[in-house]
Amino acid sequence: MSGASWTAVVLTLFPEMFPGPLGQSLAGKALAQDIWRLEAIDIRRFTPDKHRTVDDTPFGGGPGMVMRPDILDAAIAGGADPRGPVLYLTPRGRPLGQAHVRRLAAAPAITLLCGRYEGIDERVIEARQVEEVSIGDFLLSGGEPAAICLIDACVRLLPGVVGEAQSLTDESFEQGLLEHPLYTRPQDWCGRLVPDVLLSGHHEKIRAWRLAEAEAATRTRRPDLWARYRSSKVMATRD
Ligand code: ADE
Repeated sequence: MSGASWTAVVLTLFPEMFPGPLGQSLAGKALAQDIWRLEAIDIRRFTPDKHRTVDDTPFGGGPGMVMRPDILDAAIAGGADPRGPVLYLTPRGRPLGQAHVRRLAAAPAITLLCGRYEGIDERVIEARQVEEVSIGDFLLSGGEPAAICLIDACVRLLPGVVGEAQSLTDESFEQGLLEHPLYTRPQDWCGRLVPDVLLSGHHEKIRAWRLAEAEAATRTRRPDLWARYRSSKVMATRD
């Protein structure tokens, strides 16, 4: 497998945060099997001064500190080869979606830049054609937890990571729908019963029930996904 492993290069001020949760469970097993590789690189390695300064005050004033473009550029250049697309995790970025995750998982490698403080100098984003990506409309204290989420989403798509091929293709986001509700034993829990249809053994009825539940959940919880799903259905019937 060596040489062909999907590689995540993470440029960070906190390399000890990695692999963190990525060393456990599915991602952890796949890491141990060399299905993917992780290089967490300390950005401070690329500082020329003895104080190992990575940031400075923002031009124009304002609170906080900004990470310097020269240091970040050297860190990007110093990463492994191939490094693939360079992504910066930031709430200013394009919201990450499953289609983007699929593209990143299909690349041989990705490089993730994790910011701390106020952010990073805009010029390195331009010069290195860095893609800015957000994992949601909330503020994290740094890019590292977002990088962990993004890597996890990619790794589970790599061949050999998730066991049953079906568990990937059946999933909500792959179909454009939220998942239907799930039930297991006991059949009667504190008087709450499992829906009869799931006990019927009638596969077609179960499939139809699950689709109806997935559609209902998507319609009420995620009108944005519902509109996209509806229009994709209309397009499909036109083909
Ligand atoms: N860094 C801080 N907040 C973030 C977010 N919501 N997404 C990605 N990176 C971030």
